[in-house]
Amino acid sequence: MTHHTPHSLRLGVNVDHVATLRQARGTSYPDPVEAAMIAQGAGADGITVHLREDRRHIQDADVERLLAKALVPVNLEMAAVPAMTVIAERLAPPRACLVPERREEVTTEGGLDVRGNAAAITDTVARLAAVGTRVSLFVDPKPALIEAIVAIGAPAVEMHTGAYADAPNATARDAELGRLRAFATAAAAAGLEVHAGHGLHTGNVGAVAAITEVVELNIGHAIIADAVFQGLPAAIATMRRAMLRARREAANG
Ligand code: PXP
Repeated sequence: MTHHTPHSLRLGVNVDHVATLRQARGTSYPDPVEAAMIAQGAGADGITVHLREDRRHIQDADVERLLAKALVPVNLEMAAVPAMTVIAERLAPPRACLVPERREEVTTEGGLDVRGNAAAITDTVARLAAVGTRVSLFVDPKPALIEAIVAIGAPAVEMHTGAYADAPNATARDAELGRLRAFATAAAAAGLEVHAGHGLHTGNVGAVAAITEVVELNIGHAIIADAVFQGLPAAIATMRRAMLRARREAANG
């Protein structure tokens, strides 16, 4: 079981898109590790990076430098495939989040197939646990998946908030929010630590932050986008205010 006060909600800042900008020009800047240093100084509780199989943004050397320098926990997003598992075993990040990966997709589409791909996911979770990495599974918020998630043996889940964030209207958004709430309740009751992420921005983060079982949000695109205009510290401060205000209001009823 995890223990937390109703107010505690961590923000993991995903700095992938600082690397996206660097890779677009093949320069050495902007440096995602420098962004991570600024983010941790500005209130990020953790730093998330996704080492993709196609290396389109974050590179192996970025992860190594980040792990050497970060003062807050680093969360390595990765596919549960042998080549990536070997790298993660060697790097032994404090946290990892297993995500599905297909080369052609723009971003992470849908959650893990925790039933169809259970053997590979279970193997990666066990190998990472052996090097001291705490693993979360990125999943669609379907309570029917919880039995398979628990059987895999990871201590945490990250709810995919993409369907909520992309909902075309208020009715669809409310339905997705209902799914997130129901999943969070069931997952926490099953002993899983509950995280959430994907597509969150200051305008939609409140309703997810108000789900008191959620202890961590991982947010990238919107924070880096806001940082272009506001600077990274201001973008992080604005996000923290939005999520913590919603959490406080929910906790105080
Ligand atoms: N969580 C996971 C598992 C993700 O794959 C992503 C996208 O890389 C995020 C959170 C962050 O999503 P966004 O960049 O839309 O905030």
